[in-house]
Amino acid sequence: VSSQIDIHSKYGGVVPEIASREHLKKLNLILETCFDNANLNIKDIDAVSVTRTPGLEGSLLVGKMVARTISFLLKVPLIEVNHLEAHLFASVFTTSFDTKFTEYLQPPGIGLIISGGHTRLVYIKEWGDYKILGNTRDDAVGECFDKVASILGLPYPGGPGIEKVAEYGNPLKFRFPVAKLGDSYDFSYSGIKTAVLYKIKYDFNGNISEKQRNDIAASFQRAAFEPLVNKSIKAAKAYRVNWLFVCGGVAANKKLREVFKEKTVKENFKVIFPRASLCTDNASMVAACGQFYLNRKS
Ligand code: KG4
Ligand code: ZN
Repeated sequence: VSSQIDIHSKYGGVVPEIASREHLKKLNLILETCFDNANLNIKDIDAVSVTRTPGLEGSLLVGKMVARTISFLLKVPLIEVNHLEAHLFASVFTTSFDTKFTEYLQPPGIGLIISGGHTRLVYIKEWGDYKILGNTRDDAVGECFDKVASILGLPYPGGPGIEKVAEYGNPLKFRFPVAKLGDSYDFSYSGIKTAVLYKIKYDFNGNISEKQRNDIAASFQRAAFEPLVNKSIKAAKAYRVNWLFVCGGVAANKKLREVFKEKTVKENFKVIFPRASLCTDNASMVAACGQFYLNRKS
């Protein structure tokens, strides 16, 4: 992983054109560093896995170009994978550190993918065979964390900043509305962002103390997690699965892990998270997903 956070943080979000140019600049260096660290050579590659979609067009293009070049030069298979499915494959590293990636969680299971661009609940019938149960109807939960952080004057990306100040706040101080959307497994995160904005603007005249900021962050976090936890538990029960896998950047949040743990102690399914560095975007999950499709073909 080569982080671009320092470059984008002054704009308060990712600038697509800058992101793809940085990818172009850094990819060769990253490859070299990876081979050095792993004590391997480019000729040791058996196959190349790359994100096809979804993502920022320019960045995807740079990745695909590099992957296709390696595949062409080394005459090794190229596997293009879906980015959201790749997030689910971070699960491989929670069950096995075997570099052959042969062990997978045994389906059926439920997957909750919570990232900056997506909020999706899926039923995993088999690896490679999914039923999408719900999506966000507007903002993704990670995007909502980023926007609320910006309202609170916290740096980009907002998730880690909110998590940190929320530790000092009272989660029961304010009630922020979260759309339940009836029986649907869908999510909605645009309302809560506006509620935070209006609270500060109208109840505090745009001026909040550090304590109030911490209380707002904690209360926002509590409200934002509620539908994620409740709908995932409901799906795990309805589909009678043994496990629920939570992934994507927001899954790095320790408070979310605690809430899931508390609410599922009496349930007979397990809630599984990858370690934090495998929740946010990383190349290992893309490789693991590619490895699965490569194994399936051969
Ligand atoms: O999966 P990811 O790295 O990228 C996408 O595929 O979008 O997710 C990034 C998102 C950002 O919105 C960021 O604010 C959020 O994950 N995030 C967190 C935390 N760490 C990252 N949200 C809440 N708590 C965290 N600790
Ligand atoms: Zn992602």
